Amino acid sequence: MNSKESPPEKNKKINIAIDGYSSCGKGTLAKQLAQHLNYVFIDSGSMYRAVTLFVLDHHIDPQDEASVERVLGDVDIRFDLNSETGRFEVVLNGVSVESRIRDLRVSSQVSYIAKISAVRRKLVEIQQKIGLNKGVVMDGRDIGTVVYPNAELKIFMTASSEVRADRRFAELEQAGQKVTWQEVFDNLVSRDTIDSSREDSPLTMSSDYRVLDNSDLSREEQFALAMTWVSDALNEIG
Ligand code: CDP
Repeated sequence: MNSKESPPEKNKKINIAIDGYSSCGKGTLAKQLAQHLNYVFIDSGSMYRAVTLFVLDHHIDPQDEASVERVLGDVDIRFDLNSETGRFEVVLNGVSVESRIRDLRVSSQVSYIAKISAVRRKLVEIQQKIGLNKGVVMDGRDIGTVVYPNAELKIFMTASSEVRADRRFAELEQAGQKVTWQEVFDNLVSRDTIDSSREDSPLTMSSDYRVLDNSDLSREEQFALAMTWVSDALNEIG
């Protein structure tokens, strides 16, 4: 075989951006892909949630932009590898906050924090540094549009609001949280509206995204479909 015919280089890595509405399974797919490809999985939403937690713990109104900006310098966000789960967890000022950022108290305020440009600038800078060496699967709202505009694979995920509320409600119930289905549904519809209509980095899709509606797909089916896109992307850079 001469050099022209050599197969795509096995060690080449890509960045994978997964964007979409709340609770549509972005994290599940991102984790599956990262595990299979031996890539790093980063949940960018956990960073916005961690900032929200900090703001609420300091009794600041998340809609009071000036006050939030004033304390941003005191917020240190990092990811540490949890050796038990093998996953990266968000660490706020030295303390892992994974177990505190998913409740409705944070969910109901996070989209106000995510509207603030100074917050976005700070978090996007961290996210871009993480992706410099490739091999990252990151999910969020602006990953393929703002954070990694050159990502080799961009996936836009969606599912019906009812299916998404069912899934998130089951997750929260399993975590022992006392919430009603209606509260969960209202929260995700309200976040989708704020996330899609904000001025800075709204949730939106460009023509270079692959669209994945998983309303009627199992985890295995969505993974198989996404892996065909990964192969295409790897072949393209091959
Ligand atoms: O898990 P779920 O899809 O419900 O939300 P998340 O990914 O944890 O994100 C929580 C919130 O953070 C979103 O509703 C957005 O307001 C914000 N976010 C964002 O603005 N940009 C990102 N890249 C990720 C999250």
